[in-house]
Amino acid sequence: MQEEIRKEQDKLKDNTKIYDILKIEHRDVRKLFKQLLDEKQFQENIYSQIKMVLQLHMAGEEKFLYPRLENNSETRIITLESYEEHDLGKKVMHDINNNSDRDVKFAKLKVLSETIDMHIKEEEDELFKKAKRVLSDDEERTIAREFMDEKMANIPKM
Ligand SMILES: [Fe+2]
Ligand SMILES: [Fe+2]
Repeated sequence: MQEEIRKEQDKLKDNTKIYDILKIEHRDVRKLFKQLLDEKQFQENIYSQIKMVLQLHMAGEEKFLYPRLENNSETRIITLESYEEHDLGKKVMHDINNNSDRDVKFAKLKVLSETIDMHIKEEEDELFKKAKRVLSDDEERTIAREFMDEKMANIPKM
């Protein structure tokens, strides 16, 4: 996993903006959800991947992107909404982790998938669009670097 991220990081060009990275991760996590839902039953190994990807992704957004948007009137409400959606996702993940009934876990996972899907759509259709009006090109590139460095530092060593 760390090796994969290192490769990802190497591919980052100097002009990569934070939205490029986040969109790739959104696509990846949707793929993992689809994979698990296609199984028609709860699979711990795929779920652990989803969990790790989502945790790193949300933590990075909350640390580097959202704070730069939450105090600007143009982006404030959509950013606050995004924090709330992250919290909902975290709550469902917490419930999945603490439930031992496989069917209940699968049902909760479907809800998590729908919640995250809606959140991704809002970020891409609304938050990113508004953020582009608020952030400078330089900031968008800096956030991309910070996001990847943090991810690299926090990824579990495998
Ligand atoms: Fe998010
Ligand atoms: Fe996101």
